[in-house]
Amino acid sequence: MFLFSTKADLQAYLKPLRDANKAIGLVPTMGAIHNGHLSLMAQSLNENDCTVVSIFVNPTQFNNADDLAKYPRTLERDIETISSLSEQIVVFAPSVEEIYGDNAVAQSFDFDGLENEMEGASRPGHFDGVGTIVSKLFELVLPTKAYFGEKDFQQLLIIKKLVEKKHIPVTIVGVPIFRGEDGLAMSSRNERISNDGLHKATFLYEVLKQAKTLFATESIEKVQQFVDSEFKNNSNFELEYFTIASEETLKPVIQKTEGQKYRGFLVAHIEGIRLIDNLSFN
Ligand code: PAJ
Repeated sequence: MFLFSTKADLQAYLKPLRDANKAIGLVPTMGAIHNGHLSLMAQSLNENDCTVVSIFVNPTQFNNADDLAKYPRTLERDIETISSLSEQIVVFAPSVEEIYGDNAVAQSFDFDGLENEMEGASRPGHFDGVGTIVSKLFELVLPTKAYFGEKDFQQLLIIKKLVEKKHIPVTIVGVPIFRGEDGLAMSSRNERISNDGLHKATFLYEVLKQAKTLFATESIEKVQQFVDSEFKNNSNFELEYFTIASEETLKPVIQKTEGQKYRGFLVAHIEGIRLIDNLSFN
């Protein structure tokens, strides 16, 4: 495995590959590597000559200092996990100073309104931070393809929009949500939940699946009421939002339209940890 912590070292390694027209895949992460991240890496390994995985807890996308401070940082274990998938992966794990100097601030972006829905409304400035770090990584790595999970579906759409608007020559690949056997979507934040809590958290996927079934025959209002009442009757969770939205615009759906694709998006808190999930409703 190759490990670099400076931009200069990473670029020196990548330059000859680029000159030889090799395909470079990029998988941006914030570490605490789990099987969801590994599924992105596996796809990149399949489709490229070289796979770069960045591990960087990006301060500019956190709007809550406590969340940033508590975000798991497990570089040594991450390196072992990644090596067990492939010894060929290039890990880039820079410091905050290496990326931002002494000025860790986000640029502002216009993602044609995608940034105002759901996560954008709940976490002001979050997608400016994501856009800032991903732009920097694209400039640095100049990847052929870059991999993002559908787990953060809004982020995936925003990155596609970023690339389209800034004419960045990279193909964005969306990867399906990787779930545990019990249906819980893998997340770095799961590390902060007790075993009991993790067991209970399978409820989120169950609610999403039932909401999807209802959505086929019932009104949006009915589905919303169902989800609200499920959460009202479950004292383990606090529901932050449940939204059924268009897969293209992310605008909440008011009336179903034939041929449109919809997804249910859910954020809930358990043991003070914020969990996010979504499911295609078509
Ligand atoms: P992070 O939460 O570490 O996720 C890195 C990538 O892994 C994202 O594209 C995310 O959608 C994907 N991912 C996480 N859990 C997944 C799962 N269970 N199934 C499939 N994909 C999953 O998302 C970020 O980091 C950051 O915002 C980042 C893009 C790295 C910018 O800082």
